[in-house]
Amino acid sequence: MNLWADFLTNDDLLMHKWTHYFPIYERHIERFRNRDVTLLEIGVSHGGSLRMWSRFLGPYAKIVGIDINETCKLAENSEVNVRIGSQADPAFLDSVIAEFGVPDIVIDDGSHMMEHVNATFDHLYHKLPKNSVYLVEDLHTAYWEEYGGGLRHPGSFIEKSKHLIDSLNADHARGQLQPDEFTRHTSGMHFYDSVIVFEKQTLASKRDMPIGKPLV
Ligand SMILES: C[S@@+](CC[C@H](N)C(=O)[O-])C[C@H]1O[C@@H](n2cnc3c(N)ncnc32)[C@H](O)[C@@H]1O
Repeated sequence: MNLWADFLTNDDLLMHKWTHYFPIYERHIERFRNRDVTLLEIGVSHGGSLRMWSRFLGPYAKIVGIDINETCKLAENSEVNVRIGSQADPAFLDSVIAEFGVPDIVIDDGSHMMEHVNATFDHLYHKLPKNSVYLVEDLHTAYWEEYGGGLRHPGSFIEKSKHLIDSLNADHARGQLQPDEFTRHTSGMHFYDSVIVFEKQTLASKRDMPIGKPLV
């Protein structure tokens, strides 16, 4: 099964996806298939996407969606869990973690308001385990004023992420930056049209390691 084929032949619940997201999903989420992992999708809508993740990830995966709209509960089935609350409410996010465990995969497809996207990331990212992935979708809204964004607007998640590039590389800034938790636990940031993907690893053994004989 590939996700794109699954999407094109979907006759289950409705989902809304940009077509160029599918190669991104396959690149970053494929490795979790048929493993005991928890996926948290923020923004359920009709629930088609949660069902797709369940088909893609297989029988060991725990699939959880959150949404502010009570109707989204209707998307629940034996494979898919839905909880109602706001992505910007830390107590609600903690209750979801208490019930289902810390997610290995987070997909933020919720309100797309910068305030919410930032709050959710700030609350969840540092809790995620090593080998996890945090994917934020529809970041074209980071350029739109009505979503709290705007070109180079300091509150936009794109702007925040630009600064995080420096944190990722803080070890190499010759003392000008203090390595922090983000530095220590992030292995990569991937920028796509409207999507940013963060990958976590614990980089205890990161070092420049010469191996082999010099030429002269
Ligand atoms: C783009 S839709 C989700 C689409 C779904 N992920 C899919 O791929 O089919 C966005 C959803 O986010 C929900 N939403 C809006 N504000 C929210 C908030 N503060 N917390 C959680 N969900 C929110 C909306 O109710 C809506 O169902």
